[in-house]
Amino acid sequence: MKCYKDLNQIITLSKAKAKNGRKLSPEDLDVIHNGAVVFNNDEILWCGKTESIPQQYQDLPTHSLSGHVLTPEIVDSHTHLVFGGNRAFEYSLRLNGADYEEIARQGGGILSTMKNTLTEDFDSLLKTAVARIERISSYGVGSIEIKSGYALTYEKEKEITRLIHMLKDHFRGKLNIFNTFLAAHAVPKEFQSSQNYLEKVVIPLLEELAPEGIIDAVDIFHEVGYFSTSDTEKLLSTASKLGIPSKIHADEFNDNKGAMLACRYNSLSCDHLLKTGDDGIDMLSKSDTVATLLPGTAFFLGKPLANARKFLDAGAKVALASDYNPGSCHCDNLVLIASIAAKSLEMNITEVWAAITLNAAAALCYNQQGAVEVGLRPRFSLFKCDSVDEITYSWGRNFATTLP
Ligand code: NIG
Ligand code: FE
Repeated sequence: MKCYKDLNQIITLSKAKAKNGRKLSPEDLDVIHNGAVVFNNDEILWCGKTESIPQQYQDLPTHSLSGHVLTPEIVDSHTHLVFGGNRAFEYSLRLNGADYEEIARQGGGILSTMKNTLTEDFDSLLKTAVARIERISSYGVGSIEIKSGYALTYEKEKEITRLIHMLKDHFRGKLNIFNTFLAAHAVPKEFQSSQNYLEKVVIPLLEELAPEGIIDAVDIFHEVGYFSTSDTEKLLSTASKLGIPSKIHADEFNDNKGAMLACRYNSLSCDHLLKTGDDGIDMLSKSDTVATLLPGTAFFLGKPLANARKFLDAGAKVALASDYNPGSCHCDNLVLIASIAAKSLEMNITEVWAAITLNAAAALCYNQQGAVEVGLRPRFSLFKCDSVDEITYSWGRNFATTLP
């Protein structure tokens, strides 16, 4: 058991949790000033003002954290951080006027990262991934979702799913890693169709790996030129037969009705949503599927942001994630992305914090965290500053510090 006390602020998000992360107002941030929290390895036992710590907890090992702010753990619920090489050159091409989708059609894009990933061996991919995770953790992120999907061959995708599982073991006790199977990320040139690749590689590999219990969710890039609605339905129904939850890259470049598909399959989340229509937003608002917006990607691609206000006002559960990847968002700092995007997305301060903690956790099915509240898991982020306002105000400055 331990006790943190003298915290300038504890951002509890208790009211936000009670509202299930929907329709949040600024007061739902629910701040305790001069706060204290008592917890063991599994759960939060008490939380309140330092001067009110109950007698029974007064002799515990205590850390005085004045000059710090404690929040529910920051969760990056969408990353593609296992990849070889980089696409810096493509970014310059795009600055010079080229278009992302056009570059992809000409063999750049995901398929060019595929080549660089296939030529890198396991140890080297592992070493780079560890370094990337350590950097992401330095921003205060305590749980990270990692997608496979840059190998796109049967054997190498298998290797990468196992590599992500090794990362989970490597960081156990420090960070949570969520392993998402995204073999359906793009169709390699040697397959005549997405359907053919799905039947030859994606589905059989999923069926082979499922019994190992290492896949936490499946994902698919549901988009024109990538995977169709019937591909997506096939993958999601296979996953659900295997008892594996799903996520969808949905409605990024076109309104493909991906959000509705995700709701129909009870997916944990649907992500991107730049083009989702009112029908998709309405269905999301009535479902538990999290609407994950990735503003870093829209910025990086120079596209208009998702209409966050519509999702929020309709009552959808909205999360923000980095989408860290080599092509469409080479920025791994979720706090920076959320800070810059918040004003343009017209999100209030509670909506922003819930989007990177409570609702992001829900997108990974981590339903026992996301608020600082008795009975929940003691998953926190700690910042060395006087108030939560400083964090989103100081774009790109890192206040995060290690939990004692
Ligand atoms: O989430 N949209 C699909 N996949 C990635 C981009 C991948 C890439 O360009 O390498 C994304 O944005
Ligand atoms: Fe993505």
